[in-house]
Amino acid sequence: MSLEDLLTAQLRILEEGMKPGSRGEWVKVAILSDVHANLEALTAVLEDVDSRSVDRILFLGDAVGYGADPAACLELLEKSVFRFVAGNHDHAAGNDQEGLEDLHEDAATAVRWTRGVLAQEAKERLQGLPLGCLEGPMHLVHGSPYKPESWRYVMSEQDAERGFAASESRVIFVGHSHIPAAYVEVECKRLFTGVMRRIKVEDPESLQLEPRYRYILNVGSVGQPRDGDARAAYGIFEPEGGTYKLLRVPYDVEKASDKIMKAGLPGRLAERLRSGK
Ligand SMILES: [Fe+2]
Repeated sequence: MSLEDLLTAQLRILEEGMKPGSRGEWVKVAILSDVHANLEALTAVLEDVDSRSVDRILFLGDAVGYGADPAACLELLEKSVFRFVAGNHDHAAGNDQEGLEDLHEDAATAVRWTRGVLAQEAKERLQGLPLGCLEGPMHLVHGSPYKPESWRYVMSEQDAERGFAASESRVIFVGHSHIPAAYVEVECKRLFTGVMRRIKVEDPESLQLEPRYRYILNVGSVGQPRDGDARAAYGIFEPEGGTYKLLRVPYDVEKASDKIMKAGLPGRLAERLRSGK
């Protein structure tokens, strides 16, 4: 499928997704995060999404940074997704003055490179992204609902506890760590016992969500997976039935890695696409 065909297909999904489906508005959504300027991974994932009768695509941030195709990825995402929240790399690349403080060396190098290749207008669009949004039962945020502007990770039960406390939504979708994960708030007796237990779900790949529990789900990363599986990751959620699935999609890792090397970006960024770490 050419890029042009893909854009046409995604526009169709977007137009059809605007209309309420026969079973309600939020029948099936795809949740993508952390594309990181990896056009090969993004096009492979969008093709996969296209084959699964998805109503809407939601994006949790970090369109750019690390990879060699920031402008093309930003444009394709803007045309494909229904909701687009900011990631820390989007924030840093869209702002010439700040955003590098908390980034490690390779990330900061990639952000400086990205600033240099993006048009001013694209940077302004990145600057205008919201830090989070609510959609039906879902809260969409890049790092954590707790202080989203400080780009915190949800990597532990303590992190999850803060995240749950900062949101009223039943299902909170996050990215940022590039590692798929699921946390469930299994008990919520705030008034009488104060008991709130949070459990990390060991196998977050396929879940049947219980209506009385709340969840934080990390959908992994499209463009730079770090859980040891080099394939692109994204999630599919059906709010009505409460089913969630994490999917993996193979893509042309060598092509994306070669582009990183040819762009003069740090070699370590090409290597980690191959290792998935
Ligand atoms: Fe990221």
